[in-house]
Amino acid sequence: MSRAPASTLTVRQARYLRGEISVPGDKSLSHRAVLFSALADGTTVIDGFLPGEDCLCTMRALQAMGCVIEVDSKTRLIVHGVGGKLSPPLEPLDCGNSGTAMRLMAGVLAGQNFSSRLIGDASLSSRPMKRVVDPLRLMGAKIQGRGDKHTAPLEITGAPLTGIEYTLPVASAQLKSCILLAGLFATGTTSVVETTPTRDHTERLLAYFHAPPVIDVAPEGKTKTIRVRGGTKLHARDFSVPGDFSSAAFWIAAAAAMPGADLTVTNLGLNGTRTGLLSVLLRMGAHLNENINDSSCEPFGTVRVYGRKLKGTKIAGAEIPNVIDELPIIAVVAALAEGDTEIRDAQELRVKETDRIAAMAKNLRAFGVEVTEHDDGMTVHGGSPLSGARVASFGDHRIAMACAVLGLFSKGDTVVEDIACIATSYPTFQEDLHKVAYFQETGFASFLGGR
Ligand code: S3P
Repeated sequence: MSRAPASTLTVRQARYLRGEISVPGDKSLSHRAVLFSALADGTTVIDGFLPGEDCLCTMRALQAMGCVIEVDSKTRLIVHGVGGKLSPPLEPLDCGNSGTAMRLMAGVLAGQNFSSRLIGDASLSSRPMKRVVDPLRLMGAKIQGRGDKHTAPLEITGAPLTGIEYTLPVASAQLKSCILLAGLFATGTTSVVETTPTRDHTERLLAYFHAPPVIDVAPEGKTKTIRVRGGTKLHARDFSVPGDFSSAAFWIAAAAAMPGADLTVTNLGLNGTRTGLLSVLLRMGAHLNENINDSSCEPFGTVRVYGRKLKGTKIAGAEIPNVIDELPIIAVVAALAEGDTEIRDAQELRVKETDRIAAMAKNLRAFGVEVTEHDDGMTVHGGSPLSGARVASFGDHRIAMACAVLGLFSKGDTVVEDIACIATSYPTFQEDLHKVAYFQETGFASFLGGR
C-alpha cells in the first residue's frame, strides 16, 4: 500500500532499527526484463517488477511501439514480445528522469527502420548523451542530441548498423548495454571492452533470454570483452525480479551504523557487481552476514545487519562503479563513523540525476557535518553531533532518501523537501521507513510522516 506522495518528508531521531523487510524490485533488472521480453518472441511473465516511475517509462515506451504488456498487478507484467519487430512510435518517447531508459532505448532504436525521438525531464535533459551518440555513430547510426554534449531530446533516424569493437571510455553499464543492444540489430559482431567492471545485468539477462553473449576475461582479470552477434534472437522466459540492493542499501547502511540495530533484508538481489556497499561497511567495522541462494540468472538472498559504531575508510578506483548508486548513503554512514572517509574517482556522481557531490556536501553541512569537496568526490569528517535540518532533494531520489536516513540519527526534526522524486526508484520508501524505525518516545514505530 503506498501513501499519496507528500511534497516534504519529516523524520525524527530513531532509537533503533530492527525487524525483517523486503524491498521493491530491482530498477536495473526491471528495465531490462521488460525491454528484453518485449524484444523476444513469445510471452514472458515478469514478477517483482518495480512499478517506479523510471521503469514505467521504459514499459510505456515499449507499449507505444506496439508491444502488448498486460499489467496483471502492479508488480506482475505479462509481456507479449514483438520478436524484434517494433512499430514506429506516433509520439516522442518520454524517458522521464531515467538515464537507463534513455540510453538503453537509444541502442535499440538506432538500428530500427523508423525514426524516433527520446525526451526526458529537465534533469535527464541536462545529462551527457554524447557517450552513447559517439559509439552509435561509429556503428552507422543517425542520432543527434543538443549541443556538444548531445543532451536530450535525442533525434534518431533508424539506419543500418555495422558491428564495432569499442572500449568503454567511462565505466558505465548503461553505455555498455546501449552498444550491446544496438549490436543485436547490426551486421556482424559487436564487441564491448570493459576495463573496469560495471554491473553485468545485461550480459546475464541476454543469456537468460537465450541470446548468450560471448565473454572473454583477460587472464589478469582486468579486461572483459563482451561480444554479441547481429541478428541474434531473444526468446521469452518467465523472470522474477529480486529486491533492489540499491533500495535496501538505505536500511542496511542505517542499521550497520546504529548500535543495537538488528535488521534482516530478504529476497534481495545480491549480484556481486552491485554489493560493494557490504565490503565498504565491513571495512568500516560493520557486523553483517550475507546468504546467497542459487539462481538461474541473478543471485539473490538475505542480508542480516547488527549495528555498531563504525570507523572511516577510503573508497576509490575500481570499487566506485560497484557502489555508484550507494555513494549518497555511504556519505551518510561516513558522517556517523569516527574519523575521515575519503571518496575519490567518483566524478560520475556529478552527472547523475543531480550533481550528487555538491548536493550531499551541502546537505551534510546543514546537519552539522564537516565535508571537504573534491572534483571527483568528497572527504567526510565523521563523528560530529548532528542536528536535524531542512534540506532540498535537488529532485534526486537518492539524495532525498539518504538525507531522510540521516534524520534518523539527528537531534530534532529533519525535513526533506520535494520528495516526489523518491517514486522513481522506491515508491514505498515511507512505508518501509515506518516498518523498520523505532523511536524514543513509544518504543513502537512512530513517524511524523509527510505533509
Ligand atoms: C544503471 C547503471 C548505472 C547506475 C544507474 C543504473 C543501469 O549508471 O548509476 O542507476 O541500470 O545500467 P551508469 O551506467 O551511468 O554508471
